[in-house]
Amino acid sequence: MFQVLTGTSVAGNNGWLTTDVVSGVPQRSPAWGAYSGSWPAQKRSSFEAQSLHLPSSNEYRLEPSWFGGGARKRAAQRGRCPNCYSPQQTTRQSPRCAVSDETYMDRCIQLALMARPSPNPPVGCVVVDPDTGRIVGEGFHPRAGYPHAEQYALQATFTTLRNASSHQNQHLAATVSEPVAALPGSARGMHVYVTLEPCNHYGRTPPCTESLIQAQVSRVVIGTRDPDPRTAGSGAERLRRAGIEVQFGPRAAECLKLYEGFQHRIHHQTPLGILKYAMSLDGKIATETGDARWVSSATSRRYVHELRARCDAVVVGAGTVRRDDPALTVRLEESIDVPELGYGQPLRVVMCTSAARLWRDRPDAKLWDTSVAPTVLAVSSAGEVSSSKELDAAEREAILALRSRGVQIAYLDALLPLPPTRALMQWLYDYGCTTVLWECGGTLATSAVRESAVHKILVFVAPKLVGGRSSPTPIAADLGVRNMEEALALRLGRMEVIGSGQDVLIEAYLDSNKLSPDAASGTT
Ligand SMILES: NC(=O)c1ccc[n+]([C@@H]2O[C@H](COP(=O)([O-])OP(=O)(O)OC[C@H]3O[C@@H](n4cnc5c(N)ncnc54)[C@H](OP(=O)(O)O)[C@@H]3O)[C@@H](O)[C@H]2O)c1
Repeated sequence: MFQVLTGTSVAGNNGWLTTDVVSGVPQRSPAWGAYSGSWPAQKRSSFEAQSLHLPSSNEYRLEPSWFGGGARKRAAQRGRCPNCYSPQQTTRQSPRCAVSDETYMDRCIQLALMARPSPNPPVGCVVVDPDTGRIVGEGFHPRAGYPHAEQYALQATFTTLRNASSHQNQHLAATVSEPVAALPGSARGMHVYVTLEPCNHYGRTPPCTESLIQAQVSRVVIGTRDPDPRTAGSGAERLRRAGIEVQFGPRAAECLKLYEGFQHRIHHQTPLGILKYAMSLDGKIATETGDARWVSSATSRRYVHELRARCDAVVVGAGTVRRDDPALTVRLEESIDVPELGYGQPLRVVMCTSAARLWRDRPDAKLWDTSVAPTVLAVSSAGEVSSSKELDAAEREAILALRSRGVQIAYLDALLPLPPTRALMQWLYDYGCTTVLWECGGTLATSAVRESAVHKILVFVAPKLVGGRSSPTPIAADLGVRNMEEALALRLGRMEVIGSGQDVLIEAYLDSNKLSPDAASGTT
């Protein structure tokens, strides 16, 4: 039995609620990926947001940090179309206007950013009525094992169209015995926009290509090709063979960025490792006393919280826990927690060589409070195995105490001969992670870079001078570089001035992570 609840704009309520079929009582929808009623109030859009010109500037806060394009954001802030910069149009505008495909794809990206489906890719989808230009259904893939974005969007479309034809302006709920995507012609003639090529294989859910063909949509616009070899081009091909117009490309670069971690996971069988740190203009990540609060500005720190929210795990070393006692949680004004879905906060990971030492030094660490977010203590002997019986007993005691607080223990030595940081990435890959954020100090960062656990670096450079011969630096130990020509050469990604010039954000890739530009272009 598959229950579909339609989203209803409740008078006087700026958000979305669903109405229970039987009781008529407003409630949260079980169809989590569906646009209607599926997201906490802070993230919901108003009914008007379904019009052509999306997104509104505050909903698109993630854009500058992830996709660049400050000009589009500024245009949106001035009430202008983020594509052609003309004044905003009404919902009656033709979808074939010069801006439509990109704008609908922007909305898909926005929806995809709400998803937490690792190890699956985050996908957003909208269905558009080509006669009115109006979005009639939206969805995102909320979590692995749940239906895909296309399924939710088709379901929402079915409900919208049904209500529009027979019960205009009424807030209805429909109950059907099958997923509506299986109903032939449920979205006949509609245009579908989706960030990733629709899947073409049976997994935990049936292929989305089949659902789209069944629903009789007439056009599918795809952000980027699926790197998963089970689909990789065959999804688009199958749609074309069924007579559906298929087009790749609007916002291809942005969509490719969205799948950076997923693509890395598929191609390299390891999560994408991002090393992030904040440093002064003279290259220091803390003062000589170890104080690092704060190197970068409040605006940059907000970026970091948004970045964390997009990652599956955050890693630090025991040194950072001893010195800073970080919480490593995502702290934004709007909640990202949806406990029913089990996502929200990323996994917090501490690497150490001795649980006993860390427990002795920090019995009250914030990371041991697992009621706010899960924590893993990754223990690696890293050549420091103690033969002392006393320490062994202390180690056991510490581990028991940590376990009783809900901390999970990962023994990295079990993954030998992998070096410790790679062993951790292997462990996190098996756990289902796609993107891992390394927020450690220079000691662990050196190991992670040397051992190829890091593929991309994000540096916030603050216009400050700290000085001090012994002030910590981002890469604290030897990388084996003797001559300047042996220095690790990185590929520069992008640079961005944060806020009104508080910091500069630099993105760079280590050579092992060359993203294939072909993947974005698909098979047009
Ligand atoms: N500005 C920034 O962005 C930023 C970010 C983070 C930290 N910091 C600053 O950096 C300083 C701390 O630096 P740090 O280098 O000590 O921190 P760290 O790199 O986070 O932690 C180092 C510790 O991690 C453990 N470790 C390292 N490599 C390991 C391996 N291969 N396997 C297992 N465990 C391993 C060791 O702990 P054991 O003791 O168990 O051997 C080591 O002492 C603080 O002042 C902090 O404020 C600044």
